[in-house]
Order: sequence, then structure tokens, then C-alpha cells
Amino acid sequence: MKDKIGKLLEEVKAFNADSIDQIEAFRIKYLSKKGIITTLFADFKTVAPADRKEIGQLMNGLKNAIQDKIITLKESLESVAESQDKPDLTLPSSSPLGTRHPLSIVRNDIIDIFSRIGFTVSEGPEIEDDFHNFSALNFPADHPARDMQDTFFIEKDPDIALRTHTSSVQVRVMQNTEPPIRTISPGRVFRNEAISARAHCIFHQVEGLYVDTDVSFADLKQTLYYFAKELFGEKTETRFRPSYFPFTEPSAEMDISCNICGGKGCNICKYTGWVEILGCGMVDPNVLELCGIDSKKYTGFAFGMGIERITMLKYQINDLRLFFENDIRFLDQFKSTI
Ligand code: PHE
Repeated sequence: MKDKIGKLLEEVKAFNADSIDQIEAFRIKYLSKKGIITTLFADFKTVAPADRKEIGQLMNGLKNAIQDKIITLKESLESVAESQDKPDLTLPSSSPLGTRHPLSIVRNDIIDIFSRIGFTVSEGPEIEDDFHNFSALNFPADHPARDMQDTFFIEKDPDIALRTHTSSVQVRVMQNTEPPIRTISPGRVFRNEAISARAHCIFHQVEGLYVDTDVSFADLKQTLYYFAKELFGEKTETRFRPSYFPFTEPSAEMDISCNICGGKGCNICKYTGWVEILGCGMVDPNVLELCGIDSKKYTGFAFGMGIERITMLKYQINDLRLFFENDIRFLDQFKSTI
């Protein structure tokens, strides 16, 4: 009897199953009414009284071993099934690290370039009042840019709107800071424009402001010349064309020699060799006064550029909508260290 139990115990220990049916067959074989254990217990009567204690313990041990075996086999089958359903979160990721958005890369580049010549970064609210977005910047009351066409108004009388440019931030800086002021304001701006390959109702700007004694147009040109060479390369040429902005006088637009064809002419520069990248000018004395700065003592220059436009030129992207779609195939192409 002892030997028999020993053999059965070994059999039980060695048993393995890879389906629930096999476990059930195992259970029936040992534990059912006509199973091995029942027969064994029936034979117990024949055991000599002196051996009963020992044999009884062995039999109970065997029964427990069978029951434990069934539980462990069931559990391991379940955990295999589970791991097949669920992703294994402990596995290393198959996709590479995330990348920076191209607009962030270029914004960071621009901030870096200006911070090397002493410009600080200032930020302000995206929801603005009329004074900071328009009036302080010398926009006449009937200027078309105040029209519903361009501006997303939130409230009327007094007017509250989504800022249409980050010049509003510079108004706030001038109100709160004694010159010298040297600052750039990157940020999101909003205009009520139809969305196309070249325009969007949300875009990003970096605007710059420099106010001090004796600031001249030559300072403006030299600063922007440095900027263009740093961002687009040493060979980049610049040219200034007269323009108009209510808040600067004189005003200009700056072109750079086309970074694609090097000025020879291509479809990006429409065969002119030049592409426009920003607006700029000397801060109108009226604006300085409206912001609480003595225009007899101080002069200043300002400039503003769209980050989307610069990024399109830098990376030869021909549709502005790509920046907002977050298609991984597009974003994955941009890598940056800053
Ligand atoms: N604020 C102007 C715009 O949004 C850009 C600009 C800034 C032009 C400063 C001249 C000087 O278009």
C-alpha cells in the first residue's frame, strides 16, 4: 500500500496539462466517485491497525497533492490566457522616443539666437482688451484690422478679443518696465482667416522690442541681419522694403535671399531669389507715450515674425495645415537637441 501511494504521488507530481480538458480528466481519474482515491480509501479497511496512522497520513498527503496540482495547473493556464489578451507593459517600447514639434524647434532656435544678444523672453495673456491689442499700438478707431473679419471678439463694449499679435505683450512690458528694454515675446495668436495651405486661424509669432536711448534704424538692421544669418546660415543676404504698420514709423518688411536656391530663383521664391520673413520698424513715438515711455528721451525698434512661415522656409514644408494635424509620419521627421 505504501509503495502504491508513493508511485501515485510521483505520477501526480509529474503530471502536466496544457488544456482545461486535460485537468478535468486528471480530476476525474483521481477524485471522482469511482476514482483512484475512492478505491484507495475503500482499501484502507484492509490495512493493519498498527499501520493505519502512517498510511492514513500518506493518503491524505496524496489527496492534498492532487487538489493542489489541479489549482496550480488552472492558475497557470489562466495567466497564460491573460498575457495573450493584454499587452505586456513590462516590455521595452517598440517605438522610438517622441520628437519635438517643428514649430517648437524653430521657436526655441529663435529664442536662443536673440538671448545670445541680451533679449529676455516675455509672455502675456491670449485674451486681450482693446487697449493692449489695438489702441496702445496706434490703431485708428476705424482701422480695418479691428474689423470682425480679422479679430475673434469675445465681448463688445468694452472690447475683449483673442490677441491678433504678440505686440500686446510688448505693450504690457513697456507699461511695467523702465528702459532699456530688450525682449522677445513668442506666443500663439488668432485671426479670423479661412484655413488653407498658407493661412490658419491660429498661428505662432515671435515679436521683438528694443527701447533705449539712441536706438536707430541701423541697430534694427544689424540685429535682424545677425538673426537671419544665425537661423538660415552664414551666406544669407537680407533686404528691407518699405511697408506700413500703425505702430512703427518708418516701417519695413525684411526679405532674406532664398535659402532653397541661394538666390538663383526657384518656385519657393517665385523666381525672385528673395522670400519675406518679417515686419519691422522704429516704434512710433505715439506708442511709446501711450505706454508711459518718454519719447523725447527714448527710441526703439520692433519686429514681428510668424513661426509657421519661418519653419516652412527652413524645412521646405509647403502646407501650413501639417503643423496642426499631428500626423506621426510628419512629426517623426524632426529631431532636436533643444
Ligand atoms: N505685429 C505685426 C503683425 O502681427 C508684426 C510687426 C511687429 C511689424 C513689430 C512691425 C513691428 O503682423
